[in-house]
Amino acid sequence: MEILPLTGGLGAEIFGADIRRDTDFEAIHEAFAKHSVIVLRGQDAGPTDQLAFAHSFGPVNINRFFKPVEGYPEIATVLKEKDQTEAVGEGWHTDHSYDQAPALGSILHAIEVPPYGGDTLFVSMAAAYEALSAPMCQFLDGLSAVHSSRHVFGAAVMDSEAAKSGRLGNADAATQDVRHPIVITHPLSGRRGLFVNPVFTTHIVGLSGTESDALLEMLYAHCQQPEFQCRVRWQTGDITMWDNRATWHKAINDYHGFRRLMHRVTVEGVPLS
Ligand code: SIN
Repeated sequence: MEILPLTGGLGAEIFGADIRRDTDFEAIHEAFAKHSVIVLRGQDAGPTDQLAFAHSFGPVNINRFFKPVEGYPEIATVLKEKDQTEAVGEGWHTDHSYDQAPALGSILHAIEVPPYGGDTLFVSMAAAYEALSAPMCQFLDGLSAVHSSRHVFGAAVMDSEAAKSGRLGNADAATQDVRHPIVITHPLSGRRGLFVNPVFTTHIVGLSGTESDALLEMLYAHCQQPEFQCRVRWQTGDITMWDNRATWHKAINDYHGFRRLMHRVTVEGVPLS
């Protein structure tokens, strides 16, 4: 097995591993803890293999809003058809940050990829936090923010292309509003990192609307610096797993006219502090 870092900040490509081989798990888990994003190239895996691999990290958290893969209610379909214009996950976000116990990680399997484009970008939230000034870190310490699923998956967005085409649904289940610290200590590594994101975070508790918007805007601009990012270019069969407590991600929607189909499994996490 060969593990090659993608950048100095986060991400690694893994060659020669097989998610169906239990004896590879220890090295894969170690790489995941170290790099936060791992790209397992060339996996010859089916839905059952993807689920078994997910279970090696913990119980699966079933997404309430994505259309499931037929016969596999634990696997979410992430799909853009060639005649569709909107991709799922185009904005910077952290999967399930609207949950009381946000997902540990997500495992995305490339079933069908476009001939070009359709990459996924990631940000290291620890690297972004560590690059803030000491006074800013001090100011953020002790603040918390509200995250919600309502404005993203609720009734208000049911006229979107994703909802109308059946890719997203179950709007009635979009009732989660939750409060998390703005700076968390990673449950496994103990590394401090930012935990707010442009899609699901609605506001900072205790600040005025203007103050909250300005602070979040500043943090989001800071986090988007290329120095904190890595980019995954997909090939059919690849499996990428990312740590939702340590990263943001974003699907690049630059492959109009082509189909992209991914299967996503999300692993249960713990409350954050
Ligand atoms: C997601 O946001 O979970 C999907 C990312 C992708 O399709 O690249």
